[in-house]
Amino acid sequence: MLDRVPWTAPSASPRAKPLSHREDAIDPLLWEGDIDPAPLAGRRVGIFGYGNQGRAQALNLHDQGIAVRVGLRPGSSSFARAEADRIPAHPALEVASWADVLVLLVPDEHQAHLLQELGPVLGTGEGRALGFAHGFSITFGGLEPPSAMGVFLVAPCAPGARMREAFERGGGVFAYVAVDNDPPGSHTEALALAYARALGCARAGVLRTSFRAEAEVDLFGEQAVLCGGMHALLKAAFDTLVEAGYPPEMAYLECHDQLVWLAASVHAEGIAGTRRRISSTALYGDLTRGPRIIGPESRAALEAILAEIRSGGFAAEFLDEMAAGQPRIKTALETADRLPMEEVGRRLRRRAARQGPPSS
Ligand SMILES: NC(=O)c1ccc[n+]([C@@H]2O[C@H](COP(=O)([O-])OP(=O)(O)OC[C@H]3O[C@@H](n4cnc5c(N)ncnc54)[C@H](OP(=O)(O)O)[C@@H]3O)[C@@H](O)[C@H]2O)c1
Repeated sequence: MLDRVPWTAPSASPRAKPLSHREDAIDPLLWEGDIDPAPLAGRRVGIFGYGNQGRAQALNLHDQGIAVRVGLRPGSSSFARAEADRIPAHPALEVASWADVLVLLVPDEHQAHLLQELGPVLGTGEGRALGFAHGFSITFGGLEPPSAMGVFLVAPCAPGARMREAFERGGGVFAYVAVDNDPPGSHTEALALAYARALGCARAGVLRTSFRAEAEVDLFGEQAVLCGGMHALLKAAFDTLVEAGYPPEMAYLECHDQLVWLAASVHAEGIAGTRRRISSTALYGDLTRGPRIIGPESRAALEAILAEIRSGGFAAEFLDEMAAGQPRIKTALETADRLPMEEVGRRLRRRAARQGPPSS
């Protein structure tokens, strides 16, 4: 019986504050029945960018009967993709003239410049709204929308492709909604909520927040866990096993390859549910060794990373890197491609896909 496995609970971190558990707390999530779709009905939505989010949002809105056009820069390779999806795509300035709801879904570092380019057709922006899928540009990127535009955020908590898949299955993904500017009579929050609902997000749940909170929490999540923390842990664990003399294939299969099943289990049932499914040996190791990996030093690093995000230090560093042509990113990607860990992974994936021995 897993629940009989003896173990000593790790002592609480001195920084840990008790969570207040309120049985009577009001559910802060909004559902389809809480949101009026009318504020988006009859609006003309211009989606700028047809990448991860742009494509998924344009297709979901189109399927909900909303008039959508995609705005792109001249020569963009995304014209062909939009055409293949039967979503009308035009030069960005033309779409800005046509739309009364404009949603910036180009990479964050390009949004301020794109808005400047659209400036001549937007004027004061009266009667129009400007949407984002991330609070970065408004909070940290120096983007200043025309003063009379309603400014809103609908940030889906998933990559665009996953949001589209969920929508096509009749479901949705969670989303944050926020308002930065709400000119008199524009009812920007009602519009933002209706937009989130049209994306399918209210089928999962919509949470009201602020641009700043979304920007900070999103950056922290990807740096601490989803990308930065996880990738660094995978590399360190692989290196530890290989340096100790174990075959790299074993190191890869143990540390990387099985992650997909554990991530799916945590997604479906939480950590508590996952712990009831793993073996007793895995459970005991989890409970007693995990806190040694994420100990006081890692906690301090997490706090420092959050402080850098909140001060704007991370954003300034990132924008400098992008303006300089991404030198650190390019070097880091090239170095990472050549790591033994990646070579082993490529070989194993090729082999699994072939369902047979590799030819070389
Ligand atoms: N990745 C996600 O699924 C995700 C999840 C939540 C929120 N977000 C947020 O959604 C926004 C868009 O991110 P994304 O990952 O979807 O971006 P992305 O896939 O990198 O966007 C690519 C699209 O933007 C166009 N584009 C790039 N630079 C441009 C420029 N200077 N002017 C006009 N068009 C340009 C590209 O066209 P070309 O062919 O011309 O390059 C392409 O159509 C960001 O604010 C991001 O933080 C993203």
